[in-house]
Amino acid sequence: MELIEGIKTRRSVRQFTDEKVSRETIEKIIDAARFAPTWKNSQTPRYVAVDSREVMEKIAEEGVMGRAHNAGIIKGAAALVILTSIKGICGYEPDGSFTTSKGNEWQMFDAGIAAQTFCLAAHNYGVGSVIMGIFDEKEVGRIIGLDDSRVVSALIAIGYPAQEPNPPKRKDVGEFVRFI
Ligand SMILES: Cc1cc2nc3c(=O)[nH]c(=O)nc-3n(C[C@H](O)[C@H](O)[C@H](O)COP(=O)(O)O)c2cc1C
Repeated sequence: MELIEGIKTRRSVRQFTDEKVSRETIEKIIDAARFAPTWKNSQTPRYVAVDSREVMEKIAEEGVMGRAHNAGIIKGAAALVILTSIKGICGYEPDGSFTTSKGNEWQMFDAGIAAQTFCLAAHNYGVGSVIMGIFDEKEVGRIIGLDDSRVVSALIAIGYPAQEPNPPKRKDVGEFVRFI
């Protein structure tokens, strides 16, 4: 898929067919996503790919702050990818102090780039995805048995698209840029 076309045609997909996404395909998507740039090449994003219906149901029921919208997406997805980040590296100097005034915000910055790279790679393989920011960090961490060295950064539901969503309107390019 041509790059600009891929960027422009990727959509948040929230309705999926019953077809499974194989672990091999998920691995291919993550193989591409690991090429996302990171703070000092620290490569701290990590993926927990959940295709167990039981665990997905548990996250839908207990891990999305009671939001029926997100619970429904998870229950209908082929798999739920939990994007996690290793703590205490992005944004830090070796002595543990922050490198910049943004403190540890770079950790989430890296997770965001990783998430978009993941979604674009998924799109390339015909797999639909939606990033979800509304979830209960502690509950999701508990359900997947995450240890203290990592945080949950985002949830990404994936599956083969049951429909092609209409592209939400974008502002004109002129609103995004100021040349000096
Ligand atoms: C950080 C982030 C959090 C999001 N959280 C949710 C969410 O909790 N539930 C959901 O249905 N969509 C969520 N979305 C998807 C956005 O609604 C979607 O990207 C936006 O409407 C633009 O549509 P598009 O992705 O098809 O271009 C999220 C997207 C981002 C980047």
